[in-house]
Amino acid sequence: MLGTASESKKKIYRIIYGYWQSQCLYVATNLGIPKLLRSGVQTVEAIAEKTGTKAEKLYVILRALAHLGIFVEKPGRVFASTELSDLLITDDSPSIGHFLMHITEPDMWDAWRELGSSLKTGEVPFELAKGQDFYSSFMTENPHSKYLFNNSMSFLTAEAIDPLFEVYDFSRFPTVMDVGGNQGTLIANIVKKFGCQGILFDLPQEVETAPSNISKYGVLDSVKVVGGSALEPLPKGADAITMKYFLSVFSREDSIKVLTNCREALPKDGRVILLQTLVPSLGAPVEYPDGTIPALAAVQMMITNPGGHWRTQQEYQDLFAASGFQLEQVVHTGTSLTVMEFSPC
Ligand SMILES: C[S@@+](CC[C@H](N)C(=O)[O-])C[C@H]1O[C@@H](n2cnc3c(N)ncnc32)[C@H](O)[C@@H]1O
Repeated sequence: MLGTASESKKKIYRIIYGYWQSQCLYVATNLGIPKLLRSGVQTVEAIAEKTGTKAEKLYVILRALAHLGIFVEKPGRVFASTELSDLLITDDSPSIGHFLMHITEPDMWDAWRELGSSLKTGEVPFELAKGQDFYSSFMTENPHSKYLFNNSMSFLTAEAIDPLFEVYDFSRFPTVMDVGGNQGTLIANIVKKFGCQGILFDLPQEVETAPSNISKYGVLDSVKVVGGSALEPLPKGADAITMKYFLSVFSREDSIKVLTNCREALPKDGRVILLQTLVPSLGAPVEYPDGTIPALAAVQMMITNPGGHWRTQQEYQDLFAASGFQLEQVVHTGTSLTVMEFSPC
């Protein structure tokens, strides 16, 4: 009995400690400590001097992160990097460090504080906290947050590409449009791998910076970049529309608007290819092998997104059916990303 009770309390303690861990990680990464340590072991005093911090306080944080396996502590209050801390370096290419910084940055914390009150008013926590919409207004006014967000999206997309391309063939579509495609990482990779033409569609302020990302893949000539809102009519010309972690932005009502716009933009034999992590239905495993707990991620989506969150397969099917689409196939990538292919009915 006692054993069972303490195991139960241990589970609760672990959940309580969750934000302590992510905040310590945020602070160290924001100070650039993973990069500092990559070039060699350093005393806490040396790290404090280079980061303009107080050694006594910094030591408490670095020791905690060492106990969590992020750094290694050696005798004499000396710290060294690990494989984990190297992953957090943010100045090379898009990394999990960008994702950490985006998710844990102070503005996001402000929004989480409003989670409880948002339940009562139905408002978006981020909008309650900051007085502005996350995508259109906040991103435009906060270039550093936009940089972190865009690099997070590019990092997550790059991670998903190989498993996706192993199970899903885009070569049957002469032109593919990625709606809500952010910096164009997905569409650039589709065009490069399958030789089709691409259209990148996202908000005007978002696509401004996309061409330089697309050109890294050498396919800028084959990708048309279009700025606009998917709540308005979409450009025609694509045989398939991909939407990766995009429909989860919108409420049910707005999702139906977006899907109706897709239907009008596509030919009769066109396809909408939803790329999404599905929330497991009751009784199914709650965590993917890559560590994603979709029901928890759905809360994060609710924090910023104007009405959306992550849904179950059945809920997506219902949304598409209400917008005049039928399910053609579901393809699992072996990661937390699933492909649901729909055709107009
Ligand atoms: C969660 S991100 C997903 C980005 C990308 N598809 C990916 O998986 O990396 C959502 C994207 O939707 C875009 N977005 C939000 N509202 C939009 C709208 N009304 N019309 C078009 N794009 C929108 C955002 O700018 C952002 O790039």
